[in-house]
Amino acid sequence: MSTTNRRGLFLTFEGLDGCGKTTQMRLLARRLRAAGETVIETIEPGGTDIGRAIRRILLDPRNQHLSAAAEMLLYFAARAQNVDEILTPAIGRGEIVVSDRWTDSTWAYQGFGRGLGTEVVQSLDRIACRGRRPDLTFWMDIDLETSLERARSRNRDQAAEETRMDDQERAFFERVLQGYQALAEAEPDRVVRVDGRGTVEEVAARVAAAYDGFRSRHV
Ligand code: TMP
Repeated sequence: MSTTNRRGLFLTFEGLDGCGKTTQMRLLARRLRAAGETVIETIEPGGTDIGRAIRRILLDPRNQHLSAAAEMLLYFAARAQNVDEILTPAIGRGEIVVSDRWTDSTWAYQGFGRGLGTEVVQSLDRIACRGRRPDLTFWMDIDLETSLERARSRNRDQAAEETRMDDQERAFFERVLQGYQALAEAEPDRVVRVDGRGTVEEVAARVAAAYDGFRSRHV
């Protein structure tokens, strides 16, 4: 067994829809496993059975009338379940957990996008996550045009079952992007901006370099 991750490690991937975070998360997980680490991959919302049920409510395009407060609480409800069912046990076993989105998505999409503000997001995070915070967050930065185009083409491919959030107006996503920019400025030690442009391999090399840099600072 590896000795490097005995304390457990929590890594998250963030960014606009279509930023490539899911692909990059899988590639990093594969690289870490090849180095002997035990890695658990999860996703928010949807990392648990309960979370998948909540995800269906959140992303169902028929639920346009879901209120902004209910939306935010559902994202946190899914995450609270993940903390108890997946994150806390895995960290306790000294494993690495990588998550496709976490509270920073709520900060950007609900805090900035919906205009609910960041204080309420931080308060709810304390209740839902009880102090569990990512050790390192990769913010996959792509421009808004690329994000909107990728989301559109993905929805064409996937028979449009999960489109409620994608159906928001352009100004909403501009605010989400501002949220991520503000986050990276507010927490430069935790949140690393990764240029999401280029080939999958080029971006993966940037993620790997950021991870190695983090590890060398936290031995
Ligand atoms: P995904 O498609 O990357 O899995 O994310 C699902 C959608 O939910 C995406 O549009 C971002 C949005 N989202 C929020 O609005 N708030 C949150 O807290 C999370 C985790 C996701």
